[in-house]
Amino acid sequence: MQTQDPRLEIKHLVRRYEGRTVVKDVSLRVMPGQVTCLLGPSGCGKSTTLRMIAGVEMQDSGEIWVDGALICDTVFRVPPERRHIGLMFQDFALFPHLSVAQNVAFGLSGDKAAMASRVKELLNRVGMGRYLESYPHELSGGEQQRVALARALAPRPRIMLMDEPFSGLDNRLRDGIRDETLDILREEDTAVLLVTHEPEEAMRMADEIALMRDGRIVQQGAPYNIYNAPVDRSAVAFFSDINVIRGTVRGALTETPFGHFLAPGVPDGQEVEIVIRPQHIKIDFDRGGRGPNPTPQDGTPARGVVVRARFIGSESLVEFRMDHDGSILRATVPNVFLPKPGKPLWLMLRRDRCFVFPVKKD
Ligand SMILES: Nc1ncnc2c1ncn2[C@@H]1O[C@H](COP(=O)(O)OP(=O)(O)OP(=O)(O)O)[C@@H](O)[C@H]1O
Ligand SMILES: [Mg+2]
Repeated sequence: MQTQDPRLEIKHLVRRYEGRTVVKDVSLRVMPGQVTCLLGPSGCGKSTTLRMIAGVEMQDSGEIWVDGALICDTVFRVPPERRHIGLMFQDFALFPHLSVAQNVAFGLSGDKAAMASRVKELLNRVGMGRYLESYPHELSGGEQQRVALARALAPRPRIMLMDEPFSGLDNRLRDGIRDETLDILREEDTAVLLVTHEPEEAMRMADEIALMRDGRIVQQGAPYNIYNAPVDRSAVAFFSDINVIRGTVRGALTETPFGHFLAPGVPDGQEVEIVIRPQHIKIDFDRGGRGPNPTPQDGTPARGVVVRARFIGSESLVEFRMDHDGSILRATVPNVFLPKPGKPLWLMLRRDRCFVFPVKKD
């Protein structure tokens, strides 16, 4: 199999504002026809990274390469308009004096008929085919955003940088536009770097996720791997609610009220956190205080009392106060089950769904 070269590669990008480093040594590759999501909380440096790649902002150090050619380091710099990079930013703006069709045609050149058919096709695909002659002020925010998307896609950019491009669309519309946009970009073999702070959007769209925190990429990989093999507690917590159980390691094992947990390679005396998502806690009935007969996979069951149970649509969220230490654990269960507060139940932690991390000392 032939290994492909990256369409876009950034190496060791650094950006400082007034002495504060907001992008810290970020390196990343994006392959043609692939979507890479830069995912992270607000303020972690996602948009800044994108602006440097677009060329509207200069890095303090590091390099940007496109198809194996250097386009920007701290000395040499290809101007933004010559980078052939498509942009769809948070603060997109349509040209107010141009119609929808003229806006989309803006970056195109060549045969008039071919241009017109490209404009029409793209506007149809984003559901704006009926608005060719309208002007931006006649459109809603979401409609303007869809026109801006079509405009960004029109020149068939080799690289597309997208900063929260679907944020202004309502849920139902968003799924359709998102899928349609991805289809267009994949058909044209575009390399896409998409910024979002929503894990669900990243999981849905990305071939690869680069998880960013405080100016750094802390983990990179396929969505499945990021979700199922997170690097630390925060990486788990970024995708879902979590429960944390603390313990201390003795002989590569941690003893807890839920039984032993393996902690390979962790030295004796080290404190660890066992992290589990609410959907991976198993619940069983009290049976007059006897509890369940657990399988080895489930470890030791521990008893808790329901504090609160809420119905949230496809499932119920149940909060327990544990008998052994009064701590609170949260579990989600299929919505046919909505236990009453005060009811004792037994909880088990699925061993294959627990993550064990050493507690970091600051
Ligand atoms: N021009 C600027 N001058 C000074 N500080 C800036 C400037 N632009 C961004 N910052 C700061 O850099 C940090 C990173 O900002 P950035 O816009 O890249 O975050 P982000 O990850 O895109 O966040 P969000 O999800 O909220 O859009 C923030 O703390 C921000 O306040
Ligand atoms: Mg941003």
